[in-house]
Amino acid sequence: MSTRDDQPSESANAGGEQVVTPWDVAGGADGKIDYAKLVNEFGCSTIDDALIARIEKVTGCRAHPFLRRGMFFAHRELDQIVTAYEKGEKFYLYTGRGPSSEALHLGHLIPFHFTRWLQEAFKVPLVIQLTDDEKFLWKSLKLEDARRLARENAKDIIACGFDPRRTFIFSDVNYMCTPFYLNVLKIAKCVTFNQARGIFGFSGESNIGQVGFPPTQAAPAFPDCFPHLFGTDKKSLRCLIPCAIDQDPYFRMTRDAAPRIGGYKPALIESRFFPALKGESGKMSASDPTSAIYVTDTPKQIKDKVNKYAFSGGRLTVEEHREKGGDLEVDISWKWLNFFMDDDDKLRTIGEAYGSGAMLSGEIKKELVECLTPMIVAHQEARAKVSDAVVDQFFSTAPRDFDSMFGELVGDAPAPSEGPVSFQGGENLVASNAPVPAVAGGEGNEGDDAGAAAAGGDQPLSKSELKRIAKEKQIAEKKAAKAAEKAAKAAAAAQ
Ligand code: TYM
Repeated sequence: MSTRDDQPSESANAGGEQVVTPWDVAGGADGKIDYAKLVNEFGCSTIDDALIARIEKVTGCRAHPFLRRGMFFAHRELDQIVTAYEKGEKFYLYTGRGPSSEALHLGHLIPFHFTRWLQEAFKVPLVIQLTDDEKFLWKSLKLEDARRLARENAKDIIACGFDPRRTFIFSDVNYMCTPFYLNVLKIAKCVTFNQARGIFGFSGESNIGQVGFPPTQAAPAFPDCFPHLFGTDKKSLRCLIPCAIDQDPYFRMTRDAAPRIGGYKPALIESRFFPALKGESGKMSASDPTSAIYVTDTPKQIKDKVNKYAFSGGRLTVEEHREKGGDLEVDISWKWLNFFMDDDDKLRTIGEAYGSGAMLSGEIKKELVECLTPMIVAHQEARAKVSDAVVDQFFSTAPRDFDSMFGELVGDAPAPSEGPVSFQGGENLVASNAPVPAVAGGEGNEGDDAGAAAAGGDQPLSKSELKRIAKEKQIAEKKAAKAAEKAAKAAAAAQ
């Protein structure tokens, strides 16, 4: 079994049993993932044409290629999100990244490209969690490095084209504020060690930070973790989580805990894995640069890697190839084109030509290089524009106006403001116009399940308390700003 380094794709498991956890992905004896078996074991559902048609109808947008070509193939209660949306209910999106490497590979881009499409189609807010704590606990990575990588990876995520007006990005280490931690604790109390062992495969060798981590990834599925965006009501919004299917265990656990802490069960939309360059049973690894294409690769590197390493379904000789045709089942260029070539007609023509032998292996590789190069160059250009101030803009916990994050956005996003930004979310930084929780004990607080009482209830602050605290905070912030200014002047004078 392979540890999902930076990473992951599929690798054959010596024992022959496939393993898919958030940290290890290994195919069965043939190295391939049996997705039908996975859906069955995990208990999620597959996405059918009728559900895709409903999404197209309600959003008025043609389904993204990842959806219409079955890359995002499984779900949990996506139909319920769509039904709620059809009735005019709002929801938010939640996704994430474990910052364990400097550069993302193409597989990592899949959920972010798709999430951007979902955000634009449904016109809803999005929160992106960077689990620097998770990577510190699982990798031989210094905490300081994990935190730095969180900001570096955020730049690549922002380069995927998210709008800061309705996107909030946070690192767990920075954002472990009261409302977030309240949810972490309540979820943690709902899960026994035996359950966690069953879901995640923890053993006596797991460090206790790992054992305690899953509630941290679960909590952002509840909107009151983000009072500055969504207010303090745990049921102000439903949540939809796009991810690859390896993250399912986290959210199975979250969905079990949800009613017990008074929240909606989050819905999920889950993808297959983007295969490694050297073949479906290989592994994309940061330690082997020839195993994957990274967002930092140059056009020459892309061309060389595809030509040298992309596993080919071509035949041994040109004659044999012309006679039998390329094997689309194993050909990586063909599989990757299915992810990244937008044009359905062109893709079909390539598939027919290659499958019939009219197109040779070198020619389909050329098509792939021509498809990937402009996409990666555009990514690099977009990333170069992501300054630290832009990152701060996405990380800012300044309270937003709730309604402004939904529906059509007019004009361009404002330029990021100069100066330091607070990364400390707090229960007193509440969005304006956000839904207000019903009185304690009613809907929107802990449910009436016995487990709710065990998990502990929220006591929302009154409006005047909130005002008073906000005022105090304002004064404290002004004082801090003055002190910082004074210190900066003193430092300048001392030079
Ligand atoms: P991470 O950093 O391992 O992966 C980030 C996202 O990319 C998906 N992914 C892939 N998708 C397709 N093909 C691949 N080969 C491939 N490899 C990775 C992952 O499923 C994930 O969606 N613990 C998480 C971070 C996280 C998160 C979340 C992810 C925190 N909250 C909410 C999804 C949703 C992690 O380490 O992801």
